[in-house]
Parts: sequence; C-alpha cells; structure tokens
Amino acid sequence: MSFKGKTAIVTGAGRGIGRAICARLSALGANVVINYAGNDAEAEKTRALCESAATVKADVSDEAECKRLFSICEERFGAADILINNAGITKDGLIMRMSEADFERVLDVNLKGAFNCVKLAARPMMKARYGRIVNIASVVAMSGNVGQANYVASKAGLIGLTKASALELASRGITVNAVAPGFIETDMTASLSEDVKAGMLTRVPLGYFGKPDDVAEAVAFLCSDGAGYITGQVIGVNGGMYV
Ligand code: NAI
Repeated sequence: MSFKGKTAIVTGAGRGIGRAICARLSALGANVVINYAGNDAEAEKTRALCESAATVKADVSDEAECKRLFSICEERFGAADILINNAGITKDGLIMRMSEADFERVLDVNLKGAFNCVKLAARPMMKARYGRIVNIASVVAMSGNVGQANYVASKAGLIGLTKASALELASRGITVNAVAPGFIETDMTASLSEDVKAGMLTRVPLGYFGKPDDVAEAVAFLCSDGAGYITGQVIGVNGGMYV
C-alpha cells in the first residue's frame, strides 16, 4: 500500500482512533490534515507522529467551519483524495432522561458532520474521478445499545449515509465505506467503569479489546488501490462481538 502524493483529511483526529489513522496514512506516504475540536496540545501530538501534516481546529457540525477545513487543506496540499469521517461524541442516557439538546448534539456531530464533509469532498473528487471516503461507525449501529439512543441512531444513520453516497459517487471512481469498531481502548472508553468493561469483555469472542491501530489498518486497506472494487460496505473491527 502506498499513499504517496495523496492527501487525506481525518476528522476528530486529536487523539484515539483518529490519531492512529493519521499515523498509519502518513507512514504510507499521505499528506494528512488533522482535524480536531478540543485540545490543541493533543492535536500537536498527532502531528508529531506524521511526516507531512497540518492541524485544523474546526467543529464538523458547522458547515462554515468545514468549508474552512477544506480550504486550508486545498491551500496546503491541494484537494483531498481521501476523507475519513472519524469525529464522534457520546452523550449517554436512557431515553426517558435524554434531553433534546443531547440527542441533537450527538446527531449533529456524528452524522451531520460527516454529511458536511462528504459534500465538500465530493466535488473535487468527482472532478479527479478518484476518491476514498471511510466513515467510522460503530458495532452498536447494528446491535443497538441501552443508554445510547442518540449515538446508535447517529451511527446507524452514518451507515445509511455511507450506502447512499457510495451509490451516488460510484460512477466517478469514488468509493465510500464504513468501518464499525467494537470496543477499542481510547479516551472515549477509558471513562467506563471497570464493571462495565468486564461485562463488555465477556461479549468479545477474541477475548481482548481492540486498539486504535486495529481500526487504522482496516481504514488504510479501504483507502488502498487494492480495495477499489469495495464500496457501500460496512467492515466490522470488533473481535467477533457482532457477526
Ligand atoms: P475520542 O473521544 O478519543 O476522540 C474523538 C475526537 O473527535 C477528538 O479528537 C475530538 O477532538 C474530536 N471531536 C469531537 N467533537 C468534534 C467536532 N464537533 N468536530 C471535530 N472533531 C470533534 O474518540 P475515539 O474513541 O477515538 O473514537 C473515534 C471514532 O470512533 C468516533 O466516531 C467513535 O464514535 C468511534 N468509535 C469508537 C469506539 C471505541 O470503542 N473507542 C467504538 C466504536 C466507534
């Protein structure tokens, strides 16, 4: 696999899975635009892992900020050949107690954010007759999960967005796929109690939690030339948690 001369935008790449994706794509030769919303110092740590990279703080749920993200990419490296929609948040709670604001915010970041970026990436990719888009969904999009109605709905929606955009963009040589991770050890999952984690582990047939690199490897493959005939698919990276 080589991404020499290619440019990738990775959203939500300040840490965790996004950071691992940036490092992997960079190791394979890509220029990487590291988008994040939170901590500047953490985003710098991602940049330090990449040979040719820029960091852009922008909230993907805001179309104007996405436009700024894409224009900085264009100025620095040219139009993006690869887009990884990885930005995601949780605001868990049982439906009876979930506020409208918490439902909307999770949908806005996880689903509308990806839509905003696909829309901006599509035009130059169509012109180039080449593009690779990978959306980071979740195993819970298929299995459901208690206390995550907003998150599950956003990730299931992301799979729908993946399929619709795969069909719309296929004739221009652009593939759109989703990677659905299971339980991956990151800051997002670090906050769960030991009891919850032990319970989750019993549901993983391989017997251990995944690492961000496990997701990054699947993403890199879907971006490679070898995956050119794969589009509109969901690849689980979940240790057998959902088969
Ligand atoms: P994380 O919480 O460690 O990192 C999330 C990143 O997204 C951070 O860099 C943050 O700055 C950024 N972000 C948050 N809101 C944003 C916004 N509005 N605009 C731009 N960036 C924003 O998360 P983690 O664990 O690395 O997850 C990455 C993706 O993988 C998410 O979409 C998550 O839903 C998904 N996922 C994670 C799993 C896990 O077990 N860790 C399992 C299944 C899916």
